[in-house]
Amino acid sequence: MELKLTDISPLERYKLLIGLVIPRPIAWISTVNEAGVNNCAPFSFFNVLCEEPPLVVTSFNVRSDGDTKHTLKNIQRTGEYVVNLVDEVNADAMHISSYEFPEAESEFEKAGLTPAPCAVVKHPRIAEAAASFECKVWKRMEVGPGRELVFGEILVVHAREGVIDPASKRISETAYNPIGRLFAARYCTTRQRFDLPGGLSSLAPGKTD
Ligand SMILES: Cc1cc2nc3c(=O)[nH]c(=O)nc-3n(C[C@H](O)[C@H](O)[C@H](O)COP(=O)(O)O)c2cc1C
Repeated sequence: MELKLTDISPLERYKLLIGLVIPRPIAWISTVNEAGVNNCAPFSFFNVLCEEPPLVVTSFNVRSDGDTKHTLKNIQRTGEYVVNLVDEVNADAMHISSYEFPEAESEFEKAGLTPAPCAVVKHPRIAEAAASFECKVWKRMEVGPGRELVFGEILVVHAREGVIDPASKRISETAYNPIGRLFAARYCTTRQRFDLPGGLSSLAPGKTD
């Protein structure tokens, strides 16, 4: 099969791309709005790009009513935000926080999350998150109708006790169990890990978590 992307609709492109490029990491972005309401929402058009400078990128589309996403509004207003990383214990809360709540309602309250202060940025981080990056906007790019890329420079990293070894800075494979986004409401764990060459054969075929 061969598909020219100019021949298919944006919705078909979306379905194709999010179904093929899997799993995707999830940026669980937390911000506070002008009225002081804490907001958080997941974004899986996201990745880390570089360590010098330490950059992440997130892609925003619009809400279903065509409005700018609250997260993006808060980023545009302040030039700062927090990327929290999602692991298994926070999977449900992350998914609940993706619902389109009105601006005056806090996803922290809806999903039972605790806002914690940051060291440098004015937005809250999610206390329950495995790790959090305090970010300042490095560049913003409008890339299409209602589509904006935000590049963020990571200023400070927070991690839950046990996730980062203080001496080696290695990440604990037992303490950190991230989930990945597949498509729609489907996710995956990272429990079946292996070394190459050869290690994949040690996993039983068809074996799941
Ligand atoms: C796992 C997951 C990943 C998502 N990824 C994106 C994304 O990359 N870009 C985007 O604009 N919306 C994405 N969404 C939708 C937003 O989370 C959703 O629109 C949310 O309500 C935005 O909240 P806000 O208006 O408070 O910012 C995703 C939703 C889920 C569940």
